[in-house]
Amino acid sequence: MQLSFDKGSENYDFNSKLQKIISDEMLSFFFQEFESLKKKVSLLDLGCGTGEISKKLNEKLNLKTIHLVDISKKMIEKSMEKFKDDKVVYDHNDFDYFDNFKDYDLIVSNMSIHWSNDIVKLLKKILNSIKKDAVVLLSFPNSMSLRDLKKFQKKFVNDFPNILHFSNIFDCKKIYFKQKELIHEERFESILDFLKNLRKIGANVSNKKLISFKDLISLRRDKSSVKIRFNISCIFFRKI
Ligand SMILES: C[S@@+](CC[C@H](N)C(=O)[O-])C[C@H]1O[C@@H](n2cnc3c(N)ncnc32)[C@H](O)[C@@H]1O
Repeated sequence: MQLSFDKGSENYDFNSKLQKIISDEMLSFFFQEFESLKKKVSLLDLGCGTGEISKKLNEKLNLKTIHLVDISKKMIEKSMEKFKDDKVVYDHNDFDYFDNFKDYDLIVSNMSIHWSNDIVKLLKKILNSIKKDAVVLLSFPNSMSLRDLKKFQKKFVNDFPNILHFSNIFDCKKIYFKQKELIHEERFESILDFLKNLRKIGANVSNKKLISFKDLISLRRDKSSVKIRFNISCIFFRKI
């Protein structure tokens, strides 16, 4: 997966149309909730890619430090081209092994956290370790995504998190929690065409294990157009 995102890094900024749309929506959601962030803020960006959302936040907020984490070395290298500041820490790392959440006022992750090996565990860890008033802002495709695909086509795409599994994490008195769902629809000439599009940003890695030769043949032969619908959860929470 790391290798795949390394390859996708080269033209990521050009090809990541969906990620940009979602990051803009997520930021407007954030600023509706959080107009009054005047103090200096320490920012952590999990699965930062080329650092786009942190760059936007750096233009709007008074950021003290920016900590960028990504498992792809090449994505991190691309993000280095975007910042002139020495307040940025570049961290080539797996966010599943990150532990220092208590050091940050704002933690963001745009379209990345669904790549976690155990998203529920990661979210619990974040929630249990952030300091009072720290804000977490996340977006990720949820399990309602891609439901128009045929059964065999679904074998070639990832399973996404089911937000019902999060209910007991966020159902506690210690946090202020808000969420909304964003829908993104696009039509592709074929399922193969869609998968090739994912490959452009390195997101063409499936977490399904059993893909048979027969399925691969069916994939190549399937020329019917597909409606791709992503249901994207946008989550805001603050520790109180
Ligand atoms: C679709 S990109 C999103 C990048 C960026 N947040 C954006 O908005 O454009 C997903 C990113 O998550 C990173 N990623 C995936 N799994 C990761 C992990 N376990 N730890 C850290 N980064 C990870 C990938 O390398 C990739 O850069």
